[in-house]
Order: sequence, then C-alpha cells, then structure tokens
Amino acid sequence: MSYDYVELANLGVQKLQPYMAGKPVSELERELGITNIVKLASNENPLGLSEKVKQAIEKEFTDGCRYPDANGHYLKAALSERLGVSAKQITLGNGSNDVLEMIAKIYLQPHHEVIFTQHAFCVYPIVSQAIGATLVEVPAKEWGNDLDAMLAAITDRTKMIFIANPNNPTGTWLGGSALKAFIKKVPANIIVVIDEAYAEYVTDGSIPNTIEWLADFENLVVTRTYSKAYGLASLRLGYAVTSEVICGLLNRVRQPFNVNSFALAAGIAALDDEDYLQKAIAVNQSGMQQLVESCQQLDLQYIPSAGNFLTIDMGQNAIPIYEKLLHKGVIVRPIANYKMPNHLRVSVGLETENQKYITALTEILR
Ligand SMILES: Cc1ncc(COP(=O)(O)O)c(C=O)c1O
Repeated sequence: MSYDYVELANLGVQKLQPYMAGKPVSELERELGITNIVKLASNENPLGLSEKVKQAIEKEFTDGCRYPDANGHYLKAALSERLGVSAKQITLGNGSNDVLEMIAKIYLQPHHEVIFTQHAFCVYPIVSQAIGATLVEVPAKEWGNDLDAMLAAITDRTKMIFIANPNNPTGTWLGGSALKAFIKKVPANIIVVIDEAYAEYVTDGSIPNTIEWLADFENLVVTRTYSKAYGLASLRLGYAVTSEVICGLLNRVRQPFNVNSFALAAGIAALDDEDYLQKAIAVNQSGMQQLVESCQQLDLQYIPSAGNFLTIDMGQNAIPIYEKLLHKGVIVRPIANYKMPNHLRVSVGLETENQKYITALTEILR
C-alpha cells in the first residue's frame, strides 16, 4: 500500500512554502566564476564578530563535548540587569525565530485567526499556518502596519497579532503613542507580539521600548535578537520578554538545550561590548545615508527605513536587475515573495560594499 505523504501531513503544512534562503556566497562564486562577492541580502551586521565575542567563544571549546546550560542562567542574569526585568520573564531562543515559533505553539489552534500586516516578516505566516491557524493579512498603509485596520480585523476567533517594529522587509516603524493606544484597544485575551529584531538601531526614541510596557499589558510578548546589531546571526540567539506566566508556558514547549554554549557565552560578551554596538549603529547610519543618497541620484523611490536595510523601488520588475547585480558580484534580496515585485531590499554594508552595489546598479540602470 502506498500513501501520498504530502496528503498525510497537517493541512496547514501542506499549504506552506519553504523559507527561501539565498545560496552560500562560496557556491555562487563558483557558479558565476567570480570572486569577492558582496552580500547585502540578509540584513546581517557587516562588522563581523567582535573580538570580545571571539574570545568568549574560544573559551567554550574546552567544554564543547558537554550540553549547554539548559536554562541559560548567566545570560539571562546579564539580560535581566540590562533590560530591567526579572530573569523569570526571559526566554532564550535559537534565534528569535525559535521564540516566535514557541509563542505560536503555546497559543494557536486550527480554529484561531492570526493578524499581521501585508508585507510582514515571513516567519509569522509560517509558524501560524504550520499549526493550521487562519492567516488574516491586513492591507498595509504606506508600506507599514495600519493599526486601525488591524483593530477592525479582530474577530472572536483572533488569538494573536504579530507586529515587527521596525518591520522587515519594509523598514517602516511605529511610534510609541500610536502603538500603546493600539495595544490598549486589543482585547486582553489576544496575544500581541512586538518583534523588535532591529530595535537597537533606533537610537532617537522614534520607536518605543515596549519591554517597559510589560507591567501594563499581560498579553504583550516582546522579542529581540542578537543577529542584527550585535552581529551574531550565525550563532542563532534571540529571546522573548514576557510576563512570568507566559515565560513559564514558553519554557514548557522550549526544546531542552535549544541555545548552545557558544551562543550563550557570546551573548554575555556581546552585551559587554558597548564599543562594538555603537560602531554597528554608526556604520549603519552612515551606510543608510549612502544608500539613500544613491537612490536620490538614480531617481529611485525608496521606503524610509529604521532598520539595517533599505527597500528600493526599481520602477520595473526587480528580478532582472537582481540577476545583473549578481553577475557583477553583489547579492541583494528580491522580495516578490512579499508581494513587492518591483522592490529590492538592500542590507546596509560597509562603505566599500555599499559603493560596489551603487556602482553596479548605476551601470545597470544607465
Ligand atoms: C523582523 C524580524 N524578526 C525576526 C527575525 C529573526 O531573526 P533571528 O531568528 O536571526 O533572531 C528577523 C530576521 O531577519 C527579522 O527580520
């Protein structure tokens, strides 16, 4: 007897599309027969690992054959002090994607609805649909979250709302008063997830520190990552800050040892390396300026961004431009999968990397 193993899968999973990751740079170099490719495609930190982090990782090799501290005790203690919350409110994840998945797992069931904006980060539909929940995608307003429309989309089946602030792939952001007024209006039985993966880049107060609101909103979940401003994307480290009650639930579904020893040690060292963080923010600000100016010179519309990337309207199908950039040794991210077929998302790199992209694009568009 033979079965269709796709049909045997959960209904939600049957309809899922796998996450589209780019090819490794070395493989592309081999395929295209070029070297020194610049990768501006995954919103990574162009500074590389900080020296303090490298040293912390090296020390971990001694005990590399042992399981990591399952509770991440020291990292949680350091984060608790930094964030001004109890360690009992912090859940560590193998990247923040891990905690986003855990949140979906503890609250969602197939009869629930999950609200997020059009052009929202792709992991929200993935983790929700895997459980079979219904996706409610609310049309965007000026490429960002339309909070009034999201409130209007709430029904008695709504269980969760995901908002990235700033949002990826659009870079749009929400200010504190609008976001707080929104959360106040959301019924308290609906979990509101504020994903602050890029929050460290925003230093002028234009986005709120929602961790400070946790005492007021028991249904609030805040997620952050070490993948961006702290430059630890390959180590996979993120966390959720919640009420102690929700943290307890997250701990029930968390895989034992979900965060490895190298990431735990790196997370503590990264928190201590203020110089690295400040440099990352400064490099991002000047690189962003460089990218914005290039758009102005090339007469291209862009979406003002509070993240470490700029999303640019090529005024035509962006795929051929993406491919030409690739052949000139620059990888950026086409975002047709986010229903933005004319846009390319360009991560902010080092000055020379940004320049390589600008020169290549100028040649292509001329
Ligand atoms: C908005 C947003 N949230 C979460 C993540 C996940 O980050 P990680 O799993 O690396 O912590 C990303 C990564 O690009 C992101 O853009």
